[in-house]
Amino acid sequence: MKNKVVIFGVLDTAELAHWYLENDSAYEVIAFTVNQSYLNETSFKGLPVVAFERLEETYPPADFLLFAPMTGVKMNTVRKKIYEEGKCKGYEFISYVSSKATVCQNKIGENCFILEDNTLQPFTEIGNNVVMWSGNHIGHHGKIEDHVFFTSHVVLSGHCHVKERAWFGVNATIRDYITVGEGCLIAMGAVVTKSTEDDGFYMGSPAKKQEKKAMEVY
Ligand SMILES: CC(C)(COP(=O)(O)OP(=O)(O)OC[C@H]1O[C@@H](n2cnc3c(N)ncnc32)[C@H](O)[C@@H]1OP(=O)(O)O)[C@@H](O)C(=O)NCCC(=O)NCCS
Repeated sequence: MKNKVVIFGVLDTAELAHWYLENDSAYEVIAFTVNQSYLNETSFKGLPVVAFERLEETYPPADFLLFAPMTGVKMNTVRKKIYEEGKCKGYEFISYVSSKATVCQNKIGENCFILEDNTLQPFTEIGNNVVMWSGNHIGHHGKIEDHVFFTSHVVLSGHCHVKERAWFGVNATIRDYITVGEGCLIAMGAVVTKSTEDDGFYMGSPAKKQEKKAMEVY
């Protein structure tokens, strides 16, 4: 089994990913990679940093795995792009699921970053490239599509369908049987009582659709 991993990034999330993999997984981190235009240092955490554009020359996909747990900036479009570029290069991505998360045989895709104290109830499927920061409740019989980002302490009730690239602020609460539209921004503390439109920005209790301004923040 391949277990040598290259992490995309050299900022906070990459440093955290390195810590979690080194302390709570069977994977061995052997290098970091960033886009050539961000390649300012040749080492990070005592490991080499190489240009993503030429990654396969030093760490070919036949021998090495990739992990790109990135922030959700630009409504998850940047993470989506890097994940898709990694797939085009032929890499298999790992997923990290904390040993302190509660997982009930859920189907979980690749390049997911699922931290401590997440509860994934039975019969909910998680797509590829999904981030769940610490402490979310993910209810039963749900479906979470690719590139979705949960910050912390989100309550997603049972039977919800979350479409691609949705982004949830801290402490958001989603009623059962809701569909959260593609690319939606759900503000911190929002109480979502009805299904949301694609690319909408929702805030408040009960959550109402807002002007687009905040989409520029995330
Ligand atoms: C919704 C959000 C994106 C708005 O960001 P923003 O456009 O920068 O908004 P501002 O901070 O300029 O606030 C604008 C107004 O909305 C209010 N507001 C901001 N966020 C709010 C929220 N979640 N719920 C209710 N009101 C909110 C502010 O108090 C302010 O009100 P005012 O005009 O009466 O003073 C942001 O507040 C949010 O929810 N971010 C998520 C935070 C989070 O989860 N962080 C974890 C990262 S890992």
